[in-house]
Amino acid sequence: MKPIQVGLLGIGTVGSGTFEVLKRNQEEIQRRAGRGIEVTMVADLDVARAKSIVGANVQVVDDARQVIANPDIDIVIELIGGYGIAKQLVLEAIEAGKHVVTANKALLAVHGTEIFAAAHQKGVMVAFEAAVAGGIPIIKALREGLTANRIQWLAGIINGTTNFILSEMRDKGLAFGDVLKQAQALGYAEADPTFDIEGVDAAHKATIMSAIAFGVPVQFDKAYVEGITKLESQDIKYAEQLGYRIKLLGISKRTAAGIELRVHPCLVPAKRLIANVEGAMNAVMVQADAVGTTLYYGKGAGSEPTASAVIADLVDITRLHTADPLNRVPHLAFQPDAMSNLPILPMAQVVTSYYLRLRVADQAGVLAKVTGILASADISIDAVLQREAGEGESHTDLIILTHDCVEAQMNQAIAEMQQLSTVLAPITRIRKEELN
Ligand code: HSE
Repeated sequence: MKPIQVGLLGIGTVGSGTFEVLKRNQEEIQRRAGRGIEVTMVADLDVARAKSIVGANVQVVDDARQVIANPDIDIVIELIGGYGIAKQLVLEAIEAGKHVVTANKALLAVHGTEIFAAAHQKGVMVAFEAAVAGGIPIIKALREGLTANRIQWLAGIINGTTNFILSEMRDKGLAFGDVLKQAQALGYAEADPTFDIEGVDAAHKATIMSAIAFGVPVQFDKAYVEGITKLESQDIKYAEQLGYRIKLLGISKRTAAGIELRVHPCLVPAKRLIANVEGAMNAVMVQADAVGTTLYYGKGAGSEPTASAVIADLVDITRLHTADPLNRVPHLAFQPDAMSNLPILPMAQVVTSYYLRLRVADQAGVLAKVTGILASADISIDAVLQREAGEGESHTDLIILTHDCVEAQMNQAIAEMQQLSTVLAPITRIRKEELN
């Protein structure tokens, strides 16, 4: 049978990895797919560079629409990124009857509903394994491997740049800004690392996983997003003394009232496997009723790890493109007419536990006032640590771990504690998840 023909839009790091791995493993991939898979056309603004990667046998153009218009192309891979031209091209490719493979988490988290509806109407597939956690097959696991289960929650380290920064801050006691510069020099963080360090990239990925886990529409606009820019290395140290590590987690949880969807720094017990995921690696924990806890670990970015996910999608499409569209795996795991309308909960309604650090005057009665405010807000204390005041110091740090409470209650208690004249600086609050 004639190989399935693939057109590539954008041949940067992931595109060149995809081309290379497809070529290197073509025999093995063909044995799995039942048919050859060939990139026959590439669109990239830098035509000379693209030609130097793919050689003379692949047609290279500078206009993506020529790829979409080519009737011989069966699958279009979109590796341009962003919500702008990439969105238009994906919709045009669908309209032209092409299957689409994309690594574009931003696009799917924000415009997924429109894109999946267009694909459903046209009877084509939009595959996006590479959009979440790079080479880890987490989409496949959530959508197919765990299909028997009622998923209860998932929590993931899904941004390698921030995990690298947090690992270095902990290992070397460095400040956030210094490690960020190092991450940029090593090529982990983008020149403009805002999406990484502010948690937006992780929130795009958490939004997609949440939709697949619970059968709700992608709703990035409802996600709570907090990055790591305000984290101080002293909190990492205090957390460690209490038996915890701080990680930037993407969390989505099913509760009776709705779905939690949030990204923020989080204390995680140091004994959990996920707390020991270091450097730029990614990991996702999933808790489901039948299987229990499962953990997926691997490289969340990079040329060939991400290409591995892109090619898995190409193989899936190659196997299934002649199947009746109604018998394919639904884009978001659940049948489009069986999606749930459970709301995404506002952060104020989320229930979790907390780490608080208060810079307080070293005077009699301070601890009693602070704990009194927590008690009257019905917030139960789990542990307290007080740094011994240094020689000549008139202040100290009070670290409090709480049991679970509603975020709105904690906001109110923090506001009250902040009013105390003996609380000398803004209170640091970091959420805590036991993940058990
Ligand atoms: N910038 C992302 C990260 C990689 O640092 O994990 C691609 O999603």
